[in-house]
Amino acid sequence: MNENTEAIPAERRSWSVTWPAYRPADITPPELRPSALAHHVPDWAEAAPTPADVHDWEQRQAHALVHFEIDERGWPLHPYGRTGRTGRNLGRWGENQAADPIVVAGTGEQRWVLLITRDDIEQEAIPGGMVDPGETAPVALVRELREETGVDLSDHRPIILGRDVVDDWRTSDHAWVASTSALYRLPATVTAVAADDALDANWYAFNSLDQLDAAITAAGRTLYAAHRPLLQRALDQLAQ
Ligand code: RP5
Repeated sequence: MNENTEAIPAERRSWSVTWPAYRPADITPPELRPSALAHHVPDWAEAAPTPADVHDWEQRQAHALVHFEIDERGWPLHPYGRTGRTGRNLGRWGENQAADPIVVAGTGEQRWVLLITRDDIEQEAIPGGMVDPGETAPVALVRELREETGVDLSDHRPIILGRDVVDDWRTSDHAWVASTSALYRLPATVTAVAADDALDANWYAFNSLDQLDAAITAAGRTLYAAHRPLLQRALDQLAQ
């Protein structure tokens, strides 16, 4: 949970609770502010300066991985309530769909998971990314893995673990990430080479989150907290 969300009392998190004094922090970076968008729209972002400028909310709601509501201003509301942050630090207003391939190699004590070092927050994370417009989640899972690690699992059939809101570091009340996570199993580790948004790619011991934390700490690094629930779900699936 990001620090702004932690500062919100649990009883005030729900959108159904009125809170006139609520003043979320605006996390919009300079390149996504309305004045900047009027001149240039980054290729990874939609042009709408505010959610009221988006005109297909019904369609977006119908195709959402996780249901969300629209408020009386026509702004989408984070499915889990107030985050303490407003604005947009993601490509789209509302739900931004991601795909997270969890690749596990080996068995028993010799079981490993493939993680990358993200270049934005420099933390160890699942080699996932955003689903491109018109792309399906299964295609995005394979593409992101190949782009970030060079590992091509296009001929593997993963187990879909779930479709969940991710507590991404860029989350706000009106723009968030929901991800399709999937488990791939390999008999042994394969060579992974970091590329694209990844600074590094490594296999870590993966029999529990505690063991994973210890391995990552021993490497002088930190596990991206938003991915802990997804990795735990993979461990639960592996325990069945
Ligand atoms: C996380 O960020 C998702 O779970 C996914 O791993 C990733 C998508 O964002 P980019 O890597 O494309 O920035 O929230």
